Amino acid sequence: MGMPRQAFFPVKQAEAVTLAATANAVPFARRIVADITRQWHLPRDLAEDAELVTSELTTNAVKATQFFNAARGLEEVGRIRLRLRWTTPSLFTEVWDINPLLPARKSAGEQDTGGRGLGIVEFVCARWAAGHCEDGGKLVWAEQRLQS
Ligand SMILES: Nc1ncnc2c1ncn2[C@@H]1O[C@H](COP(=O)(O)OP(=O)(O)OP(=O)(O)O)[C@@H](O)[C@H]1O
Ligand SMILES: [Mg+2]
Repeated sequence: MGMPRQAFFPVKQAEAVTLAATANAVPFARRIVADITRQWHLPRDLAEDAELVTSELTTNAVKATQFFNAARGLEEVGRIRLRLRWTTPSLFTEVWDINPLLPARKSAGEQDTGGRGLGIVEFVCARWAAGHCEDGGKLVWAEQRLQS
């Protein structure tokens, strides 16, 4: 009674999916996040922001994958990986792609030609970071915090 619903659920949950690195991975990832956050009974505003973060991070990951493959003359579509992790009071959105190049916020002058994505992530999240993975590629993650 009066307690937030998520307080009754396990504090640690995670789900992961691998998606083909095509433009359609973005709306698909959004829907997956909508489904998972609903299943976890997370508040709607947190879930909606998670969809936004997912949208930006997967868009970047798809672009980075396509760029990486094209630069190597590879015809393959490749894949990206999305993982959602809920550890009260934080929701982590993690996106892996094969391109070892780490994302960097664009400076103000370059913003007219894009560069909004990570700005949105920064606005919605407590923090975000990127790092290389042992088995190749890199992971970009962003942490949203539940307002208590
Ligand atoms: N997954 C990634 N791999 C490699 N580089 C990345 C990745 N994500 C972002 N970057 C780099 O960081 C820059 C800034 O990303 P950001 O999402 O803010 O802007 P954008 O993707 O260029 O434009 P927008 O998101 O507004 O369409 C990108 O232009 C790209 O160079
Ligand atoms: Mg972007």
